[in-house]
Amino acid sequence: MTDYTRALTLVLGGTGKTGRRIAQRLTAQDRPVRIGSRSGGVPFDWEDPATWAPALGDAKAAYVSYYPDVAAPGAVEAIGSFAEVAVSSGTRRLVLLSGRGEDEAVACEKALAGSGADWTVLRCSWFSQNFSEGYLLEPVRSGHVALPAPAVGEPFLDADDIADVAVAALTQDGHAGQIYELTGPRLLTFADAVAEIAAATGRPIGYTPVPAAAYARAMAAEGVPADVIDLLTYLFTTVLDGRNASLGDGIQRVLGRPPRDFADYARDTAGAGIWNQE
Ligand SMILES: NC(=O)c1ccc[n+]([C@@H]2O[C@H](COP(=O)([O-])OP(=O)(O)OC[C@H]3O[C@@H](n4cnc5c(N)ncnc54)[C@H](OP(=O)(O)O)[C@@H]3O)[C@@H](O)[C@H]2O)c1
Repeated sequence: MTDYTRALTLVLGGTGKTGRRIAQRLTAQDRPVRIGSRSGGVPFDWEDPATWAPALGDAKAAYVSYYPDVAAPGAVEAIGSFAEVAVSSGTRRLVLLSGRGEDEAVACEKALAGSGADWTVLRCSWFSQNFSEGYLLEPVRSGHVALPAPAVGEPFLDADDIADVAVAALTQDGHAGQIYELTGPRLLTFADAVAEIAAATGRPIGYTPVPAAAYARAMAAEGVPADVIDLLTYLFTTVLDGRNASLGDGIQRVLGRPPRDFADYARDTAGAGIWNQE
C-alpha cells in the first residue's frame, strides 16, 4: 500500500485556476508538491512529451489538468499517453479535471482509465473564475460582455470547491474509480451571472447575446487564433445547448457540504477589487 501522507503530488496546471488552489492546499497540509507547468521548476509541457517523466519523478499522485481544453484536438491522445507514462513511473493515483456533457471529455476519461491508473474523474461545469481569472475578465472590467451564449441555465462552479474535492481525491482513499459531477448550487444564464457581478461591484456591466458567426468574426478581427475561436464557439453553442442545465451532487458526496454560491464568489471577488482595475 502506498502511503500518500508524505508522497509527492504533481499538480499539472499548478499555476492555473484550479491547480494553484490545489497546490496551496496541499502545501498548507505540509505535503510535498511539484507544480507541473511550463514555468515550473521541473518544466512540464503538454506539447513536449520528453518533459513528462522528469516532471513526474517519484510522484505517487498527480492532478491532471489538460491545456487548453479537454475538448481540444489532441487532448485524448495526450492524456492517454501521459497516464501511461505516469503509471509506468509509479504515479498510480490520477485525478482528472474533465468537462461536463462533452463527448470529447468522456473520451479523455476513457484514455486515462485505459492506462490502468487508480483514476478519479472530476466532471466540472463552467468555472465562476472565468469571469475573474480567465478570458471574461477584460470584458467584465470594460463594463460590457458580449457572448454567443443562449439563455440557458449553467450551474457555475467555484474553483475553490474543485480544489477541495481534488485534494480529497489526491490524498484520501476511497475515490478510485469514481466519477464526480461537480456543479454550483443553482442555474444562472450568462446574463444572470453578469448581472450578479454588476450588483456586487456596484457598477453597470452590460450583457449582449451575439450570434456565433458575429462573435467569431469579432474575435478574428482582434487577432485571436482560429483554433481558439473554434473552441470557444463550440463551448458557447454546443455545450450550452441545455444539456448541462441540471445540478450535480459531487461536492456533497465528497465534502459533505453544499457547493459555494455564485453570489458569494461575486461578493468576495468584487471585494478584492479584481474587477475595478482598468
Ligand atoms: N474553465 C472552465 O470553465 C472549465 C470547465 C470545465 C473543465 N475545464 C477544463 O479545465 C482545464 C484547464 O482549463 P482552465 O481554463 O481552467 O485553464 P488554467 O488551468 O487556468 O490554465 C492555465 C495553466 O495551464 C498551464 N499551461 C498552459 N499551457 C501549457 C502547456 N502547453 N503545457 C503545460 N501546462 C500549460 C499554465 O502554466 P504555464 O503557463 O506555466 O505553462 C497554467 O498553470 C481544461 O482541460 C478544460 O477543459 C475548464
